Amino acid sequence: MWGGRYSTGMDAVMEEINASIDFDKTLWRQDIAGSRAHVAMLAQQDIVTQADAAAIDKGLAAVHAEIEAGSFTFSRSLEDIHMNVESRLAEIIGAPAGRLHTARSRNDQVATDMRLWVRDTVDDLDAQLRDLQLALLDKAEAFAGAVMPGFTHLQSAQPTTFGHHLMAYVEMLGRDRGRLQDARKRMNECPLGAAALCGTSFPIDRAMTAKALGFDRPTANSLDSVSDRDFALESLSAASICAMHLSRFAEEIVLWATPQFNFVRLSDRFSTGSSIMPQKRNPDAAELVRGKTGRVIGALNALLIVMKGLPLSYAKDMQEDKEGTFDALRTLSLCIAAMAGMVRDMEPNVKVMKKAAGAGYATATDLADWLVRTLKTPFREAHHVTARLVGVASDKGVGLEKLTLADLQAVEPRITQDVFAVLGVDKSVRSRVSYGGTAPQQVRVQVRRWKSRLGKEQKV
Ligand code: ARG
Repeated sequence: MWGGRYSTGMDAVMEEINASIDFDKTLWRQDIAGSRAHVAMLAQQDIVTQADAAAIDKGLAAVHAEIEAGSFTFSRSLEDIHMNVESRLAEIIGAPAGRLHTARSRNDQVATDMRLWVRDTVDDLDAQLRDLQLALLDKAEAFAGAVMPGFTHLQSAQPTTFGHHLMAYVEMLGRDRGRLQDARKRMNECPLGAAALCGTSFPIDRAMTAKALGFDRPTANSLDSVSDRDFALESLSAASICAMHLSRFAEEIVLWATPQFNFVRLSDRFSTGSSIMPQKRNPDAAELVRGKTGRVIGALNALLIVMKGLPLSYAKDMQEDKEGTFDALRTLSLCIAAMAGMVRDMEPNVKVMKKAAGAGYATATDLADWLVRTLKTPFREAHHVTARLVGVASDKGVGLEKLTLADLQAVEPRITQDVFAVLGVDKSVRSRVSYGGTAPQQVRVQVRRWKSRLGKEQKV
């Protein structure tokens, strides 16, 4: 393709370090779509003849069919997907193939291909995240009133509900989707026509190719067009944050599924046994979601490091954007699918969670609030009184609700029988009616809000 001034071929090691076809064949659809848009534009602008353009387009369709059918032979000596496609095109249609590369370069070609791939993948991820949100919403609705311990510092803090806990992830995933959609908006500009780096002297119509490929507009600076990989970085950054969220959830599932917690039962479909310990049910899918997060964040770090020292414009270093980006976004996709499966199958052990919710003096805040509300005690003082009562209960080895009225009055004589109404976990949960709070009625408000929002999205 560029052998005009070369007399000997490439060293085998040179070929190995240089060739990207083993991984950039992923871009074949985008590459062919880009070429077809390009040649249609060249014909419209009278840069190539209608006859040549028609031959090229037909040939590209044939290459497409071959790759799709699996009969295409990818060749390392042709370096990358762009030259593999073009070379096969020349075999199929002969001379006119040589006109396809007019007014473009592999630099704007690869930038275009990558944007298309990342954009389409981001759209798929968004749809998958929506599906995971729907799975969480169904569970949250079913268990809006299922009391469980709420933790801070992984210590029982206040009673909450399983539904409320799951809804926290619906919010996180909503922001993750927002970040991906936001990245998509900025990435949806077409680099094609920036050519090698400075644009071209041919009278191309960049708006036409941009439109044909579903971009909002052409990019506005040719140097930037071939140098920019922010779109991949932004997507990897959004993907990393999302993977981090899934990893936290996965960690909770791992904890909840231990015999010690026993909060949830995972389905057989999403657990594995041990080859040596017959009693085990291992949450491997959750562990792998947690573990694979490292690869996603790693790809973001790797690409930031690749890019940070590069002068404008294109440098071959940028070929290193591909494996990490492909792997990270595919990995995230797999993790989202695994989480959706686990959530749909997951069965909470409602009784165990409720019992645990009452342990650890989790209603101590409710007691303090009662003192403030009923006896008009300043909160700081109520905190001290409650702490002393927790001490009494702890010495007796019972929960707060098992203290006698005499025990309570020994510390604060004005306490009445009424206080017992707030010491149970159900009462505690139901009392937290502040907007966004734990009360089942509030959880249902949020479930309805999200269901209507996601329902509207689908119609768009
Ligand atoms: N395989 C290359 C990449 O991914 C395509 C662009 C090559 N451009 C060049 N001037 N050698 O970056």
